[in-house]
Amino acid sequence: MKTSLMALVLATSAIAALTGIVAAKDEATKDLLPPGSVSRAEGLAAWKRIEAVVTHPRCANCHVDAKAIPIWTPAGETKSRPHGMNIHGGESRIGAEAIPCSTCHMTSTQANEPAPAPPRAGIDWQLAPVAFIWFGKSGAEICAQMKDPKRNGGRDAAGLVEHLRHDASLSGFIPRGWAPGAGRSTPPGTFEDHVKDMAMWGAAGQPCPN
Ligand code: HEC
Ligand code: HEC
Repeated sequence: MKTSLMALVLATSAIAALTGIVAAKDEATKDLLPPGSVSRAEGLAAWKRIEAVVTHPRCANCHVDAKAIPIWTPAGETKSRPHGMNIHGGESRIGAEAIPCSTCHMTSTQANEPAPAPPRAGIDWQLAPVAFIWFGKSGAEICAQMKDPKRNGGRDAAGLVEHLRHDASLSGFIPRGWAPGAGRSTPPGTFEDHVKDMAMWGAAGQPCPN
């Protein structure tokens, strides 16, 4: 009886996760622009706006190196510092070796909402993989990383747009950047602007500044 209930719970969460992925794909397809329909100059301008977002603390603070210490930028401050309380993401990047990030950080697709009740399709709060490092990197370095499938999770230009939609439907780390709560600053523009810029940059062939 217990086992079948467990199986049902697992199946329900798998279906919820799959539905999220399919919905994200459908939505991302609508965002895409035909390759070559955007000029290199417009693509570079889109990259400049993307760069302002990904170097912002709300994004870069989780995209850190192999030391796996998240960065913390309190409200009203621009100075970044290592996360207090000896927090460490470990090799797992989710803090599994010590205190899991999810002990304190709840994941929700809606800012300031409690985590969805189990079974949940959300992804636990965690650091981005080491290869996706942004904190302390220049815009040109981040641009080169983001277009390199070996260092971005195997994503082409369309895959990056899809990731933004996928994250919005599951973990919500990215949309949260624009609705962080507690008086924290936000990256320029809106989440929807960011999706459009990513589609433009992709259609222009992902040009990077020199
Ligand atoms: C809570 C930590 C966290 C925050 C905050 C965060 N990310 Fe991420 N990010 C991740 C994780 C984890 C992954 C890996 C997910 C995957 O590959 O499926 C990731 C992957 C990505 C990727 C995939 C490709 C690549 O080159 O890194 C993009 C794009 C991205 N994040 C954008 C953003 C943007 C934009 C923001 C801010 C608005 C942001 N992230 C904030 C944790 C975070
Ligand atoms: C003991 C509780 C606790 C644990 C565990 C914890 N954090 Fe935090 N974290 C906090 C608090 C509190 C803040 C500050 C919130 C504020 O600025 O108001 C914070 C802030 C952050 C920020 C800055 C958020 C922003 O928008 O700039 C990041 C990034 C972060 N934590 C990532 C992590 C990651 C990744 C882990 C796991 C490796 C983790 N935290 C584990 C309590 C915790």
